[in-house]
Amino acid sequence: MGRVIVAPSILAADFSRLCDEIHRVEAAGADWIHCDIMDGHFVDNISFGPEIVRIVRGLTSLPLDVHLMIEHADHYVPRFVKAGANFITVHAEPEAKHHVAKTLQQIRDGGCRAGLTLNPETSFDLVEPFLDKIDLLLVMTVHPGFGGQPFRTDQMQKVKRARSLNSKIDIEVDGGINADTARLSIENGANVLVAGTSIFHSKDYAMAIRELRGE
Ligand code: DX5
Ligand code: ZN
Repeated sequence: MGRVIVAPSILAADFSRLCDEIHRVEAAGADWIHCDIMDGHFVDNISFGPEIVRIVRGLTSLPLDVHLMIEHADHYVPRFVKAGANFITVHAEPEAKHHVAKTLQQIRDGGCRAGLTLNPETSFDLVEPFLDKIDLLLVMTVHPGFGGQPFRTDQMQKVKRARSLNSKIDIEVDGGINADTARLSIENGANVLVAGTSIFHSKDYAMAIRELRGE
C-alpha cells in the first residue's frame, strides 16, 4: 500500500471554533476529514447531520469521509451526497435497518466512494461477501457512539483477514487510535487511520499526525 492516510474525526474538535479546527488539521497534514453521524437510535448518542457536513465542505478541499451510524441510511444518503461527501460508509448490522447492497449502489450512483463497516461485536462474515464491491472497509476498534474509548486489539484479526482477501481496498480503523495502536493497525494491514482524541486533544496537531504515521 502507499502512504498511510490520516483522517481526523471532528467529533473531538472544538465546535465553537470549527472553522479554525478544520484549517489547523489541514495545515497539520490531515488527508481526509472524518465526519461521525449519530442518530440516537443505531448508537446511543446524537452528533450532527448533513447541514454541518455542508459547512465543513465549504471550509476545506480535503475529501470528506462520512461515517453513518444511523438507522435507514438509504433514506439519508442523498442528503449527504448533496452536502459534499466523498466517502460514505454504512453499517452492515441488521439493526441499521437498510438493504446493504442497495445502499452501497445508491452511494456509488451518487458519485461517492462506498464504505462498509461493522461493530466490534459483529462477525466478519457479515462484510466478507462485499469486500470486492466496496472501496473502503472500516473496522471499528471501539463500540461506536463516543470518542475517547480504549482500542480493542481483538479487532486486528478482522483487519488481517480483510487484507489477506483484498490487497487493493482501503482498510480504515476507527476508535482509540494513537501512535501505538496506529502502528499495530498498519502492521495488520490497515492504511487509513481515523483519530479524534489523539489529534484534537493534543497541543501540536502536526506532531500528532506525524506520530500516527510513524514518522
Ligand atoms: C466512534 C466514532 C469515532 C470516534 C473516534 O463512535 O466513530 O470516529 O470519533 O474517536 P477517538 O479517536 O477519540 O477514539
Ligand atoms: Zn467514525
